[in-house]
Amino acid sequence: MAKCCFQTFLFFFFFVFFSHQSLASSKYTRQPPRPVIFTAHKGSESDPQQVHISLAGKDHMRVSYVTTSHQVPSMVEYGKVSGTYESSATGDHTKYQYFFYTSGNIHHVTIGPLEPSTTYYYRCGGSGPEFSFRTPTSSLPIEFAIVGDLGQTEWTASTLKHIDARDYDIFLLPGDLSYADTQQPLWDSFGRLVEQYASRRPWMVTEGNHEIETFPIIYPHGFKAYNSRWLMPYQESGSNSNLYYSFDAAGTHIAMLGSYTDFEASSDQYKWLEADLAKVDRTVTPWLLVLIHAPWYNSNEAHEGEGETMRKAMEELLYRARVDVVFAGHVHAYERFTRVYNKKADPCGPVHVTIGDGGNREGLAFNFKKPSPSISLYREPSFGHGRFRILNTTHAHWSWHRNNESDSLVTDDVFFQTLSSSKACMGIPKWQTSSSSLNDEL
Ligand SMILES: [Fe+2]
Repeated sequence: MAKCCFQTFLFFFFFVFFSHQSLASSKYTRQPPRPVIFTAHKGSESDPQQVHISLAGKDHMRVSYVTTSHQVPSMVEYGKVSGTYESSATGDHTKYQYFFYTSGNIHHVTIGPLEPSTTYYYRCGGSGPEFSFRTPTSSLPIEFAIVGDLGQTEWTASTLKHIDARDYDIFLLPGDLSYADTQQPLWDSFGRLVEQYASRRPWMVTEGNHEIETFPIIYPHGFKAYNSRWLMPYQESGSNSNLYYSFDAAGTHIAMLGSYTDFEASSDQYKWLEADLAKVDRTVTPWLLVLIHAPWYNSNEAHEGEGETMRKAMEELLYRARVDVVFAGHVHAYERFTRVYNKKADPCGPVHVTIGDGGNREGLAFNFKKPSPSISLYREPSFGHGRFRILNTTHAHWSWHRNNESDSLVTDDVFFQTLSSSKACMGIPKWQTSSSSLNDEL
């Protein structure tokens, strides 16, 4: 009898123990959306708010800030010692109207030339608090933090905190910033939420669908708030639109494309991109990255096929240029593909990564199609962020960090080799673009 009881006890113990272990290791509970945070301005009308910086051509930085007082000049004082501003620069300001909303003065001041890997202290408008930033390195290694579809919820705050927990050089955002969606005070709130991060590292962004904000007849062209507030170096890169541009950083050329403006072969964006890519010297910038909002490759049911028209129009351009990685947003999940071209695995095509998991109020895109296509290597519907650390002229490390409760966890990581170091891919004549003929040679 005693033996029988002991066996029953053992069975029960192991059943409970292993059931628990199995659940703990295999079951990660997907997180629901969290509330929007409205961030108020705590200073005076003349105090600068929503301060953020962005790269503005070689060795220059653009400082952007908002004041509700109209008396504050568009001026930034800066220097390498806290409280001692040996240099200053003046810029311009703009403002815009959206129905009954009138923005504050939005100032943009370009400063420089600046030294690389150097901390600068600065003050906006001649008074107010001191900020500081560090310029990116001019040589490899360099690290990019990347996340799209950010929004301004408690998840957003969590993502930004995780990103900030480890050093990086430049923040890349492939579209969908504030989720203001025509509620203009939410653009101000977003600017205040991200200020503590965006005033310290350059934020390079491109537009998503939530930036459009068109209204029939009254605002037919859209992007009023986005273009006024998030001025990117389009003129510095030969573009005629803030909706697409490019920049260089430490051995890397990055093209920020517009999913919501014309991209057909006859369009200005296409012609600009063709010329921009033709100028890239892979001996100077061996790495070539592209950011878009709507992904060209996506196995999630959300936004299925929305990037397809742009893919058909522009994929060959990117393929010929041997782009290394294309980062996209829009789908609120993480997905990494193999190197692809024309919907097939191709050793000379870019890796495509969807990273639209910043934490916005709409929540996650849970439903991936089954079975997973063979070109999709990792997919997960969780909030998180990515880090692309370019180690040297040939190798980079990509990692995706899922937001857990109070920390972040690396759940996907891989080393990439740039196509510029591939004799097989770089040796192919540019006119020979079909993957079948390429594979014949490989
Ligand atoms: Fe989107």
